[in-house]
Amino acid sequence: MKLNAQTTLCCVIGNPIDHSLSPAMHNAGYKAKDLNYVYLAFRVGNVLDAIKGIRALGIKGVSVTVPHKIAVMQYVDRLGDRAKQIGAVNTILNENGKLVGSNTDCDGAIKALEGNIALSGKKVVLVGSGGAARAIAFGLKEKNADVLIVNRTLAKAKELAKATGARFGDLSMLDEIKTSDVLINATSVGLSNNGNDRLVPEEMLHKNLTVFDIVYNPQETNLIVDAKEAGCKIIYGYKMLLYQAVTQFELFTGSTAPVSVMEEALLKGLRG
Ligand code: ATR
Repeated sequence: MKLNAQTTLCCVIGNPIDHSLSPAMHNAGYKAKDLNYVYLAFRVGNVLDAIKGIRALGIKGVSVTVPHKIAVMQYVDRLGDRAKQIGAVNTILNENGKLVGSNTDCDGAIKALEGNIALSGKKVVLVGSGGAARAIAFGLKEKNADVLIVNRTLAKAKELAKATGARFGDLSMLDEIKTSDVLINATSVGLSNNGNDRLVPEEMLHKNLTVFDIVYNPQETNLIVDAKEAGCKIIYGYKMLLYQAVTQFELFTGSTAPVSVMEEALLKGLRG
């Protein structure tokens, strides 16, 4: 990669940021497509200051991660419909000085799912009602899936279900997995630093079920291991991370993303 006075800068802002795999994915993509771009990670405490910096330096594209996805909304010039619906921005595109906030998490999840199963009319159990579940729920609605949102805190499931036209229930409703086509874990249960526990009893899994666990660290969560044993089709959590970056790459560069190159870079980063 040759850097010079014409190099276009993109970046990710978040806090903490030093474990972000976005620079590896985006830079591998730029290299493969021979684009004069570079992508860096910035640890940002004050979002408004970062936004001023983006404007002042003409940074072309920005990925936004925890904890800034909501706060950043008030500082951009325009919000895409998805970002408005979901209530979070994970992407900023600098269009000749105007900052446009959008959300590619939704796209990322739907692309990951639709690579394996057409969602229209399918019975989907979505577990969780946090930020990630919210992005996925709006995507499922758009694909006309028949969605049940299940969450430990019922009030949050109810609110999300109301916004997306889904049904809802507490964890006792997990039983519906037995008659469903797709199960999505959008909770943090399964994360290595959470003890890699499981929410879904093994006996609910069956071979006609596609299981998508958005947890990607570890890759083989207990849910994924159980699902493989039950003969389910599985979708690893890293695919959502990959495809949200693929959509960002295309927005930032106007070029088709080299998906397999970005996937390889991501998997290499995940393996450490
Ligand atoms: P994110 O933005 O990554 O989705 P979040 O907004 O903190 O993170 O949401 C975490 C989700 O995981 C929530 O749905 C949460 O359930 P509650 O709404 O009841 O808090 C769910 N979650 C986390 N730990 C859980 C646990 N031990 N059992 C069941 N659900 C859990």
